[in-house]
Amino acid sequence: MYDPALVEQRLSLAQIIVAEAASMARDKQPAPGRPQALTKGLQDYVTETDIAVEAYVSKRLASAFPEDGFVGEEGGRAREGAFTWVIDPIDGTSNYARGRERWCVSLGLMAGHVPVAGVINAPPTNEVYIAQRDKGAWLNGHPLRAATVHEPRTAMVEIGWSAMVSPTLYAQQAKALLDIGIAPRTGGCGALALSDVASGRLDGYLENVINLWDVAAALVLLHEAGARVSPFIESGGLTTSRPILAVAEGLAEIVSRSLGFSLEKNTFNC
Ligand code: IPD
Repeated sequence: MYDPALVEQRLSLAQIIVAEAASMARDKQPAPGRPQALTKGLQDYVTETDIAVEAYVSKRLASAFPEDGFVGEEGGRAREGAFTWVIDPIDGTSNYARGRERWCVSLGLMAGHVPVAGVINAPPTNEVYIAQRDKGAWLNGHPLRAATVHEPRTAMVEIGWSAMVSPTLYAQQAKALLDIGIAPRTGGCGALALSDVASGRLDGYLENVINLWDVAAALVLLHEAGARVSPFIESGGLTTSRPILAVAEGLAEIVSRSLGFSLEKNTFNC
């Protein structure tokens, strides 16, 4: 159990800290032309700004809430606590490093195993998503609701890709969606794609190998917006890369069946 007042207090300050971090990242974004970043692997980038943003947020949170844990994409698990902050300092780094617009700073808060709050700030579009478990989710102050689409032939689903996923599996899943009339997309920013499912801009998002920092904040948005989500945390997502499928209720059955994904046993996320 956790005290919602403690979550609310943390969420208020998190919005300010993430706005500062997002502004720092926006000011340092490379110009288009070529990727300006170091490579961690095939099509996997890190910039100096990823590291600087994570360090900044970690320091600010450690000073405000020294008892809280902290996990970051770049630095791993730095601190332990009953509450744990989970940051992706720049989600969509490949886009960021090429001067593209689809990237964000994503900060989630977990109470033990439960995602309880999230802030996702996307400077290129001036959009800020916030959510608190059992209180609601908002985009720039407007409540979020997942799409009401029921008909696959009018649906749009994104499939995230990283080099951890075989080309064969990716192609099979794109074909499975196309076979039922759904338009597949790939945008290179898992946190914003999941936010799009929460806001109804997308009907679903699938990624076969994804990490806690990509999804921690968005899981709260999705829960509050009424989307269905596969059991990411229950299947081991707290400590290792796992698949995720998030989908609007009206398409949950057909999309999960077509892709061979279960949406059951999801007591933590939905
Ligand atoms: C990546 C992006 C990408 C997803 C990868 C993530 P990063 O995060 O969210 O869309 O497909 O799985 O690792 O590296 O930009 O923080």
